[in-house]
Amino acid sequence: MKKFLIKGGKKLSGTVEISGAKNAILPILAACLLTRGKTVLTNVPKLVDLKTMAHLLRIIGARVDYIRGRMEVDTADVCFPEAPYELVSQMRASIYVLGPLLVKFKKAKVSFPGGCAIGARPIDLHLKALEKMGASFETKKGYLYASTDELKGAEIDFENVSVGATCHILMTATLANGKTIMRNCAKEPEIDSLIDFLVKMGAKITGKGTSTLIIEGVKELFPVGMEMMADRIEAGTFLIAGAITNSEITIANCNPEHLESLILKMQQAGFEIGVDDSSMKIFPTRKILPVNIVTDPYPAFPTDLQAQFLALMTIAKGTSYIEDTIFPDRFMHVPELNRLQANISQEKGKAKVIGVESLSGAEVMATDLRASAALVLAGLAAEGETIVSRIYHIDRGYDNIEGKLRLLGADIERIEE
Ligand code: EPZ
Repeated sequence: MKKFLIKGGKKLSGTVEISGAKNAILPILAACLLTRGKTVLTNVPKLVDLKTMAHLLRIIGARVDYIRGRMEVDTADVCFPEAPYELVSQMRASIYVLGPLLVKFKKAKVSFPGGCAIGARPIDLHLKALEKMGASFETKKGYLYASTDELKGAEIDFENVSVGATCHILMTATLANGKTIMRNCAKEPEIDSLIDFLVKMGAKITGKGTSTLIIEGVKELFPVGMEMMADRIEAGTFLIAGAITNSEITIANCNPEHLESLILKMQQAGFEIGVDDSSMKIFPTRKILPVNIVTDPYPAFPTDLQAQFLALMTIAKGTSYIEDTIFPDRFMHVPELNRLQANISQEKGKAKVIGVESLSGAEVMATDLRASAALVLAGLAAEGETIVSRIYHIDRGYDNIEGKLRLLGADIERIEE
């Protein structure tokens, strides 16, 4: 079992280069099924979740090659419209292949995604929208058997904002027969990136950047090449790494516009943040001030940075309140941070963080992707040694996080125990 051994208290310095965005690439990989031919994606990081999606595409019949940041997806021989349990249960974004398989093959067999540490993760919004477009579903032994005579354009009003449902229905509607209007869509930057990709393939989409998307179905889409956008959550995680170690570091190859809500909160916490069009720089502060956050859909504070920001607040000079309205159960990092002598109390969906003078190292256990990042950040600040176990969670969404942190001067290594 691999673990991270972190010797805390080190100042960081220098520059970290941010990798491509997992949550932009996952829907784009599924959208490759909408065309026959070779798609070429660049700036693709080495992540377990992307490996899982590549494996799923191979099962469906695509040829997927990944070499040094470049992923090629050849869908010429795609013929098997199935997404098996062992893959879907590992990564719920596998559900994205359902719509493209339906619109291409008129049928699909996809396992229901399970829940995970941060919540139940239902897919009702996805299925209701596909039903409105003409899909019918049967469930048997944990599998969804989907079929349709033809997917048609429809008016879809999402009951609540969902990144996944927005991506999934958007890509499916590009080949549906007729016009689809989607309202109450999520507006995350990863959705803009998916729209750019689909339009480049020949899709007709208007409303980018708004909560109403209008898609005119076309007959065919064509394989293209595209560079993947930078991962705003990785960039935000490293910004907080600079803050929690009170260091001066630069985060390069990122888009600060995607992190306005985090930058504002970091400034309220007393940090000076310099930005230009592709990098951010953080400077040490005399005193970390307590700041309250409430997560909400973009452009509000992202739930994917909640755990990391909470870790920073454990050493603020005062009390802060952290609420996650998107995943109220996303606080598995709290008991682990308290093992590092943080002082956090928690009730449904909210955490009260009373800042302490300093954290002290201990053995802690990662439970989900962003909680693991929060534990690594806390270990960087804690006095003494911190051992983080179950770090397979972190490898799902961060490419060589320990290598990037070591380049900044952190004392962290991956050990086998
Ligand atoms: C995406 O998950 C991201 N994953 C998550 O990032 C991110 O936390 C989340 O969006 C919110 O920003 C990917 O992009 C692969 P949602 P998704 O549908 O699409 C409820 C990470 O750390 N809901 O926007 O699954 C849902 O329960 C991951 O990289 C329904 O009720 O999230 C939640 O409360 C973790 N029915 C809310 O909507 C549905 O059919 C928002 O979820 C779908 C969602």
